[in-house]
Order: sequence, then C-alpha cells, then structure tokens
Amino acid sequence: MVVLKNIAVFASGRGSNFAAILNKIQSGEITARVVCVISDNEHPPVFDVAIAAGIPTFCINRKQFATPEEYADALLSRLKEKRVELIVLAGFLKLIPTPIVRHYPQAIVNIHPALLPNFGGKGFFGIKVHEAVIASGVKMTGVTIHFVDEKYDNGAIICQEKVAILAGDTPEILAKRVLEVEHRLYPQVVKALCEDKIIVKNRKVIWNR
Ligand code: GRF
Repeated sequence: MVVLKNIAVFASGRGSNFAAILNKIQSGEITARVVCVISDNEHPPVFDVAIAAGIPTFCINRKQFATPEEYADALLSRLKEKRVELIVLAGFLKLIPTPIVRHYPQAIVNIHPALLPNFGGKGFFGIKVHEAVIASGVKMTGVTIHFVDEKYDNGAIICQEKVAILAGDTPEILAKRVLEVEHRLYPQVVKALCEDKIIVKNRKVIWNR
C-alpha cells in the first residue's frame, strides 16, 4: 500500500510552483496529499488554485497575534491538526518561526530563484532577485532548493540548477526562464522527499535517485 505524505504548502502570492507540484500529485507521480495551503495574505491568487482543488486554505499572519509565541502556536496547532509531515514553501515571504523549524527538522523546504548563497537573504524576493543578478554582471544564475532553518535562504542545499544569462535579458525575461526550471525541479524534489530519498548530514545533502 502506498503511504501518502501530508504536505502543507506555505505561499504568499501567485502559486505557480504550488500548481506545478499539485499537478504531479494529481497525476499520481508524487505520493502525497496537500492537506492545507497557508498564507500570510488574506486572498492571495494561490488560494484560488487550492480552492479549485478542494484544498483548505488558511490565512495566518503575525499581525493577528499579540506575541510571536502566539503566532507560532497558531501555526503549529494548525499543522498538527492537519497531521502535516512536510512543509513546502512556494513563494512564502515570511520567516518560519523557530518552534516550527524545530518541530519539522529536515522537513521544510524552500525554492529560491538564484544560486544561493548569492542573491539570497532578507529582501531578495521576486523580481528584485533577478534585477540584482543582472545588475551584478554575473553570467550564470539558476534555481536553488534547500531545507529551511531560522534564517532566510540559509538551510542545507538539496539541489541547484544553472540558468545562463543571455544578452538582452531583462529581469522579467530572465525570471520567466528561471521559473520554467523551478516548475520542473521542485516537483522532483518534493517527490524524492515523499519517498524518503533525500538525507542530510551536517549540511551535506544526499539525494538517492
Ligand atoms: C518563485 O520564483 C520562487 O523561487 C520564489 O518565489 C516565487 C514564487 O512564485 N521563492 P510562485 O508563487 O510559485 O509562482
């Protein structure tokens, strides 16, 4: 019998990576079910993708609570209630509270549209990443998928794929090419995580393909 992993997706906006992952779940390639989509925003476009698939959505953000502890408690109790085993960040712009990071060791992943550790950290999100990449004059950018810890874009790197910067690239054109790679790579990593094929030892990640 195939055991399905319970995934929570955290997303702030568009949700194209979530849609790419959902697609592979619906086709049976990824042995998982998305049990909820959580956002810091009230009505992000990603909720429409979830609602169309019958997946519960929740807006949980720091401003709804008096203290950071209450915020973390609310998130954690929702995750426990939904029996979440893996958290997939897909364009989630807030830091994950420490109690959540501790409760889910090596079970929270993020995707970043550049080659970390460059062009990452606080403030590097959305088109800003690609603007900074182009302004720097580097010839290569790419996609990084990594585990999540208490700092922005800092956890152990699972995989990276390069994308060349071409003459005439604008941040928007480059973003589009990088996003195509994201949509291919992220479902592969989520699939491997659901099959327990990725292990971490001291920041070294081994992916048994
Ligand atoms: C992606 O570029 C991802 O790398 C970054 O945020 C963006 C989210 O896009 N973390 P979408 O919401 O999945 O379309």
